[in-house]
Amino acid sequence: MDQNELKRQVAQAALAYVEPGTVLGVGTGSTVDLFIEALAASGMELAGTVSSSERSTQALTAAGFKVLEAAAVERLSTYIDGADEIDPMGHMIKGGGAALTREKIVADLADRFVCIADASKCVDVLGRFPLPVEIIPMAAPQLIRRFAQLGGQAQVRPGCVTDNGQLILDVRGLSIADPLAVEAEVSQWPGVVTVGIFARHRARVALIGTPDGVRTLK
Ligand code: 5RP
Repeated sequence: MDQNELKRQVAQAALAYVEPGTVLGVGTGSTVDLFIEALAASGMELAGTVSSSERSTQALTAAGFKVLEAAAVERLSTYIDGADEIDPMGHMIKGGGAALTREKIVADLADRFVCIADASKCVDVLGRFPLPVEIIPMAAPQLIRRFAQLGGQAQVRPGCVTDNGQLILDVRGLSIADPLAVEAEVSQWPGVVTVGIFARHRARVALIGTPDGVRTLK
């Protein structure tokens, strides 16, 4: 079974976590694209969605779902999104698709983060996937030096400007044994908009696509 098929499986399984008639938080990425397809095919009616990117807004609108501004919503029961890495506690690295800031904002509105990912994303310790960090451009050189002090090699992602008009640093070589602590530390560095560690906003449910079917971690 190829990776796309595993993604399709978890996208389908995530439908069980959507409450009809509610407003749903929707993430970004190829797995989420498949989830939006599955949601549209299910015929389920929603009061609306809150999207974490221009890409998902376009897909949701094309599928006939109303997309609300995050500012218009006080609370979501569920946010569904993919991940670049997930550990056994549900801590994640996100931002491979450069949407991490809006993803964290929408996840923060939600009572529950449901992560949908194929098994290649599962790790014991976060850090194999280069850590995305959205930054204010003028701070790039000093942030690159700061990551070097932590043992990381940071590099500006070529040709990437986020939906918020900022840059992404990808940081290689970190082993993130304490995701809560690293998220808290990096988040306060001047010039950091959002660090792609989702530890405070960890997945409460993870649907992992494996060749033997969908594994559910809670
Ligand atoms: C986008 C993300 C995505 O959730 C992450 O990159 C996973 O993407 P995919 O579903 O395409 O593997 O964080 O910013």
